[in-house]
Amino acid sequence: MTNLLTLPGPLDPHVHLRGLEWSHKATFVSETAAALAGGYWAVLDMPNTPPATISQAALQTKLAAIGGEAVCDWGVYFGASQDDNTAEYAGLTDVCGLKMYNNATTGSLLIGEQALRARHYAAWPAGKVIAVHAEGPTVAEVLELVRRYRRPTHFCHISTIEELDYLRAAKAAGLPVSIGVTPHHLYLTEDDVRTLGPLGRMKPELKTQSDVCALWVAIDEGLVDVVESDHAPHTLAEKAADIPPSGVPGLETTLPLLGKAVHDGRLTAGQMIALVATNPARIFGLHPPAETYTVFDLDDAYVIERGGLRTLPGWSPFEGMRVYGRVREVWIRGRKVFDGERVLAAPGSGINLFAGR
Ligand code: NCD
Ligand code: ZN
Ligand code: ZN
Repeated sequence: MTNLLTLPGPLDPHVHLRGLEWSHKATFVSETAAALAGGYWAVLDMPNTPPATISQAALQTKLAAIGGEAVCDWGVYFGASQDDNTAEYAGLTDVCGLKMYNNATTGSLLIGEQALRARHYAAWPAGKVIAVHAEGPTVAEVLELVRRYRRPTHFCHISTIEELDYLRAAKAAGLPVSIGVTPHHLYLTEDDVRTLGPLGRMKPELKTQSDVCALWVAIDEGLVDVVESDHAPHTLAEKAADIPPSGVPGLETTLPLLGKAVHDGRLTAGQMIALVATNPARIFGLHPPAETYTVFDLDDAYVIERGGLRTLPGWSPFEGMRVYGRVREVWIRGRKVFDGERVLAAPGSGINLFAGR
């Protein structure tokens, strides 16, 4: 039996493709291929991979590298730096938005002081998205800046009741905010860290069952705008180290995990399309090109296994989980780029969706 769903240009606005100085973790070729295998038309790449995307020179380096390697469409974020790099913002083009890290995570970008955050908010061009890593009370601090400067702000990987409460109030007050939630915060809890060990470590950390329930309620009430993978590949060797890095791969498991939610009756197909395609496109001002879609078979059930993944590190925190939904085909601009087994697009065929913008 087949129950085919056509997804209009799935877009993951939160991925760390690596490449450049972190090519031992993953490459733009390997991770954009993982994006196609995961059913995505396009991905937006975060700036924390060295050399961090915090200067015009580093941006040009990254644009050239991804441009030559990507098999899906893409965008890149510029990064806010603690050594005030706001002079770079005026007239900056070719980026999808600004990323600001307000709590410690992988990489060296962290802005802990509210006064410096305010300088970045004031300098960033109106109309272009600011995506923020903010946890707990930091969400409220960033919301103060949204109130003051009115820049459209995407709150990445929201994971707690407290954070949802701040953002529910902010939306009710009409602030220009959007909310992203990850599959790991929807399907795993702090209890899973006991069995997963370092493979269950990411920022924000896994939370309680009550937080997980609150995220599903927030999805149901339409408060959550996006399900984003926060695809953050690290090698198994790195994860086995004394101090393992935070982050987990997710590009190939997000759609099947949401397919499971549709199968289990926790989500409608319409909600799934909004969370992975139409909402992220609206937030970033994108429209999928003509004949750009993904054919997704909601009735194909299987168990996520190590070895069945294209992401270079090859592992998933969801190994052993039974999911519903197989990516059958991905089409971009009228060309079939993934046929359910093979990537058919050549490296460099993906385009920067924000070129000249
Ligand atoms: C991300 C990474 O590894 O780049 N890690 C993570 O745990 N999510 C950084 C981030 O998104 O905070
Ligand atoms: Zn983050
Ligand atoms: Zn991230």
